[in-house]
Amino acid sequence: MFVSNLVPSVASILLVSDFLVNAAPCRPPPPASKLTAADLIQMGALANCSAETQFPAECRTAAQAAPFVNQGFNKYNITTVGEKAALLSLMLFESGGFAFDINHSLNTPGQGTRAELTFPFILEYALDTPSVAAQARALAGANATDPAAVPADTENAIRALVLPDALSFASAMWFYKQSGAAKTGCTATPGMIAGLQRATLPGWESYITDCVGTTVTDARQAIYEQTLAVFLAQTAAAS
Ligand SMILES: *[C@@H]1O[C@H](CO)[C@@H](O)[C@H](O)[C@H]1NC(C)=O
Ligand SMILES: *[C@@H]1O[C@H](CO)[C@@H](O)[C@H](O)[C@H]1NC(C)=O
Ligand SMILES: *[C@@H]1O[C@H](CO)[C@@H](O)[C@H](O)[C@H]1NC(C)=O
Ligand SMILES: *[C@@H]1O[C@H](CO)[C@@H](O)[C@H](O)[C@H]1NC(C)=O
Repeated sequence: MFVSNLVPSVASILLVSDFLVNAAPCRPPPPASKLTAADLIQMGALANCSAETQFPAECRTAAQAAPFVNQGFNKYNITTVGEKAALLSLMLFESGGFAFDINHSLNTPGQGTRAELTFPFILEYALDTPSVAAQARALAGANATDPAAVPADTENAIRALVLPDALSFASAMWFYKQSGAAKTGCTATPGMIAGLQRATLPGWESYITDCVGTTVTDARQAIYEQTLAVFLAQTAAAS
């Protein structure tokens, strides 16, 4: 379900402070302020797309991405450093630092956005987004309630509805806060929110396994820790 190739620029800047990451604060860190392009670059976003020759139309620089990332957090009311770091690091990991936004494998049609949601979630996201819901419903037709039946080219057409930046950069936030039949995302997962809000490692591990449904790996953890360290440095500088 997820990208395993980190762009070299990400790997080369993983200089994580053990203190910041391992010392769970007794109180949650203060809320994060708006992200800048410079913050995103330190977290592993690309500063420049000129080297991305494979899928240049999909690449977004940190400067292009920053407003959409901030909008996504605002739209879904995600305010704490720990939650932001978990969601943003997932997006950075899945999209190669915002280099691409779909899975180009023919084996997984319909997978995409900056969080690389798989198709059942792409369809659900489109149906749950008022600006594109009617189009998604028309494309899916009678298969709207049976995502497995949707043909591949239709999966890709539905995915295209949620690839504009304002939606693509908010899919991780939607998934976390609003996906599922009850529209509560992962927020009912016992202990996860509290752990994330305190920026603890078990909180992040629960997010990856219980919410995203994938496996904790060193590469995922490294980019989470780097992202969190940038947020914590930002809030320390502001206080
Ligand atoms: C893309 O899909 C392929 C085939 O299902 C899978 O092996 C790979 O991990 C996926 N990559 C992403 C970007 O999730
Ligand atoms: C991006 O990198 C290329 C090659 O290094 C350079 O020529 C170009 O000026 C850079 N663009 C920006 C916006 O930094
Ligand atoms: C937004 O989130 C904060 C912190 O989690 C919470 O206190 C507040 O009530 C939420 N606001 C809205 C409008 O949901
Ligand atoms: C619904 O699914 C079936 C089986 O995959 C397919 O033949 C049909 O064309 C689909 N309908 C639409 C509107 O895509």
